[in-house]
Amino acid sequence: MADPVIRIMDLWKNYGGDGSGAPALRGTSIEIKKGEIVALFGKSGSGKSTLFNLIAGLDRPTKGRIEVEGQDLEVLGDRGRTTFRRMKLGFIFQFFNLLPTLTAFENIFLSLELANRAEPDLALKALKEVGLEGKEERFPNELSGGEQQRVAIARAIVKRPSLILADEPTGNLDTVTGNQILELLTQRCHESETTLIMATHTPLTCRYATRILRMVDGIITEETSCEEMAR
Ligand SMILES: Nc1ncnc2c1ncn2[C@@H]1O[C@H](COP(=O)(O)OP(=O)(O)OP(=O)(O)O)[C@@H](O)[C@H]1O
Ligand SMILES: [Mg+2]
Repeated sequence: MADPVIRIMDLWKNYGGDGSGAPALRGTSIEIKKGEIVALFGKSGSGKSTLFNLIAGLDRPTKGRIEVEGQDLEVLGDRGRTTFRRMKLGFIFQFFNLLPTLTAFENIFLSLELANRAEPDLALKALKEVGLEGKEERFPNELSGGEQQRVAIARAIVKRPSLILADEPTGNLDTVTGNQILELLTQRCHESETTLIMATHTPLTCRYATRILRMVDGIITEETSCEEMAR
């Protein structure tokens, strides 16, 4: 059996620092394998974004351990975590998070540059793949919400990362556009065997996933089916 891409062991996050306040993560553990498409459900405040920030190495746990491809993020140190993010991780946000002063092309090219793969053709191909051919020179404010999210997807997939974290990728889109984005994102991940974790409120996401998890008060549990999500 394939080694897990992510292994999370007894993960705690307490923003209080001094031990005050309820922890956002309360000793949760999970393993995620290569190529899994995971929908992570959970109410607002349950700890989904906290988990993503820790997996991305943008923040550090209070206690516990995260391994990505067998590498302990704590052992990597700050520089190692930055390299990991640039080379191996795609991050898609609810509000797209494109750089407003860069064009669609430049937003993607920058991500390639940071991964030491400054090849313009790759950026152009990625934009074409998400259906944005001809809009390369547009700035984010000249694109619709769905188009901006396509740029964000292109930016994530262009590096061929081993892992993509998508935090509410359709949260800011209407249902039809949201479905198109989910279709596109999950199809690309299937094709390249990229592991994808999507944090979500919406049951729509369920049918695009190969595995369903639920976060309740800082602990992840396994769900058996989409039907269960409707209850
Ligand atoms: N930087 C922070 N400082 C202090 N508390 C925080 C911080 N970030 C999150 N929290 C708290 O941690 C808990 C989990 O928040 P988190 O953002 O992970 O939830 P979420 O599941 O992503 O919610 P949503 O669905 O609304 O995005 C919440 O109680 C929140 O108030
Ligand atoms: Mg969140």
